[in-house]
Amino acid sequence: MAIIYNEERQQFHLFNDEISYIMELINEEYLAQVYYGRNVQTFNQRNPYPYVSRSSFSPSPADWPDRHFTLDAIMQEAPGYDTSDYRQSIIEVTYPDGTQATNFKYESHVIFQGKKPLEGLPATYIVEEDEAQTLEITMLDAHRQFKAILSYTIYTDRAVIAKSIRYVNASPETIVLNKAASACLDLPDYDYELIQMTGSWAREKHLKRDPLTMGIHTFDSKRGASGSAQQPFISLVRPQTTEATGEVYGFHFVYSGNFAIEVEVDNYEQTRVLVGINAHHFSWQLEPNQAFQTPEVIYVYSNQGLNGLSQTYHHLYRERLARGEHQYAERPILINNWETTYFDFNEEKILDLVDGAKELGVELFVLDDGWFGKRNSDKTSLGDWFVNREKLPGGLEQLAKKVKARGLKFGLWFEPEMVSEASELYQAHPNWALQVKDYPLSKGRDQLILDFSRQEVREAIFNQMTAILDVVPIDYIKWDMNRTMTEVGSIGRDAKQQLETSHRYMLGLYDFLERLTTRYPHILFENCSSGGGRFDPGMVHYMPQSWASDNTDAVERLKIQYGNSLVFPTSMICAQLSEVANHQVGRITNVEMRANVAMSGNFGIMLNLARESQADLAVVKASIEWYKTHRRLIQYGDFYRLISPFESNETAWLFIDQAKEEGVLFYFQILSQASQPLKKVKFQGLDPDSLYEIRGQILSGDELMAYGLYLNHEFYGDFQSKRIPFKKINQ
Ligand code: GLA
Repeated sequence: MAIIYNEERQQFHLFNDEISYIMELINEEYLAQVYYGRNVQTFNQRNPYPYVSRSSFSPSPADWPDRHFTLDAIMQEAPGYDTSDYRQSIIEVTYPDGTQATNFKYESHVIFQGKKPLEGLPATYIVEEDEAQTLEITMLDAHRQFKAILSYTIYTDRAVIAKSIRYVNASPETIVLNKAASACLDLPDYDYELIQMTGSWAREKHLKRDPLTMGIHTFDSKRGASGSAQQPFISLVRPQTTEATGEVYGFHFVYSGNFAIEVEVDNYEQTRVLVGINAHHFSWQLEPNQAFQTPEVIYVYSNQGLNGLSQTYHHLYRERLARGEHQYAERPILINNWETTYFDFNEEKILDLVDGAKELGVELFVLDDGWFGKRNSDKTSLGDWFVNREKLPGGLEQLAKKVKARGLKFGLWFEPEMVSEASELYQAHPNWALQVKDYPLSKGRDQLILDFSRQEVREAIFNQMTAILDVVPIDYIKWDMNRTMTEVGSIGRDAKQQLETSHRYMLGLYDFLERLTTRYPHILFENCSSGGGRFDPGMVHYMPQSWASDNTDAVERLKIQYGNSLVFPTSMICAQLSEVANHQVGRITNVEMRANVAMSGNFGIMLNLARESQADLAVVKASIEWYKTHRRLIQYGDFYRLISPFESNETAWLFIDQAKEEGVLFYFQILSQASQPLKKVKFQGLDPDSLYEIRGQILSGDELMAYGLYLNHEFYGDFQSKRIPFKKINQ
């Protein structure tokens, strides 16, 4: 791996064994993208684009000798604004004179070993200096004294580039950033299909693949959270790309607030991908000599299909984005009381559930919403984080003690960023909620959002939480966030700074999470936002697992978990076996199917044990036993998607350990069909030269990957599933 600057050709080449990323300076001024894709050992050409004649409707930069040259056609790394590149730009700045023209030119660069942390922001990191190299290129608009410092980190052993930009005001006056993107990548054609991860509450991360067309396509969130409607991710794939083969580019934004990914196909049929904080509801007063650090974007390239892309993200996120004691720890099998009791519980009910769970082999009990203030419905008490003694007369201490005496760990639900109007906190501090003064506030689940951009607000909640966490032996926290932002204003903040609120909120949240997770390193944090409404790489940096969806229906979960797996490793995706008829969609599926789907993630259960049949409980118990012996393989093995639930009545995926010695195939068929065509599952990720024992047969890895395994003629009835372990045999 290296980053090389070739003086003669004025070219930067970032490469490792898998990828190359090449840029060049045009006339020592403009920074152009040349090539990004699979590794090329040596590159001896210069980019031809600048020297081709273009239309007079695309002007040339001032003082440029050749009138046929235009920035409008250059694959630029730092496109400016209101000059001669009419495509989407990385910035939009208002200067003290009210104008906006900005044109960046190369000033200097530095190459260094390692990777710098991004102050106050979640980011990928390194453990050893030699894991990565970084190139920082300073681009300057000399007339404005405004700089964009472009940072590119390439990892030694990963097909990854981490990109971010630091904007610096080197002028003596304040300037206003209205848009400040993190990355711009231009590609020379548009023969791509675009994959987005879209959805809604209870339908998170559905994969949608469409041909890329000309024009500007925006994938964004204006909700104050990354949201369930759109993951801050897109992928460009060649039309012939499959799960196993073909070229794929991925762009994932390490941020949990408003974002925008703009994909523009220009009139020269080039593709621009811009990623950053959404310009909607954003502006930033950048004082003289101050910098604005953008969050980073993770570029991944694969020429081994979507599974290749996913595995690069999985390893990176697990190894160099997540942190802490639980980073590689086996995740406990939990039971959560939410769908069993909702708000209606007392100590006795809870302990009954815990007793039943212990019988089944469950390892962690999670007390969900309703344990604090006067919280008997979702209309009250958020912000009052002290125990409800009517429900739990002995307090959380006593409950935790009793749960632990039964051999289970104890976990607790919090929703720290929220406040109910009916709460002591809100009555005392009505202006602590995000709000536009004297403007009617929209309702979301009857709650408001606390203004986490303010230190004193965060401090008050932090103190309430630590008062509990310092005395109750808590092993796990479910950190929930159940509404999106509206009327985003901050009382007391200067009028000019009101539009800084949503980003300052995120910085405040990250600061809070950093402090809390550092103070309680033993606690396992699970991120939740009405399910997967804020499950993004930003949160992964603080919380190593996430509740993927409130939707626990086994059929719906196939799509949700399949979608999540595009970027997130299994150890981060929580899944629970819940009762039927399913609470979200009313479907009745058998317990084997529900177990197999939930066991394809961090396994847990959410069952009213008193209501379940002995036969079903026996299946749950056996599943827990099986999971315990295969948990490392499932949570930390390599994951391959084989058959997509978005395209068929079947779904298949497999897990295999890194040594390729042991694996398990999961196969699901949703609806039964008569006389259906026989279908084979073709494996991936095996060692082609090894023999595997599978279902009593000895088959070669080669054979299983090339020919496959017949399965679906074995099924009778709807909602069928199979769990098929396999092992390499010693030859
Ligand atoms: C959200 C979560 C659920 C549950 C409820 C409690 O909807 O996603 O799992 O915790 O809140 O109010």
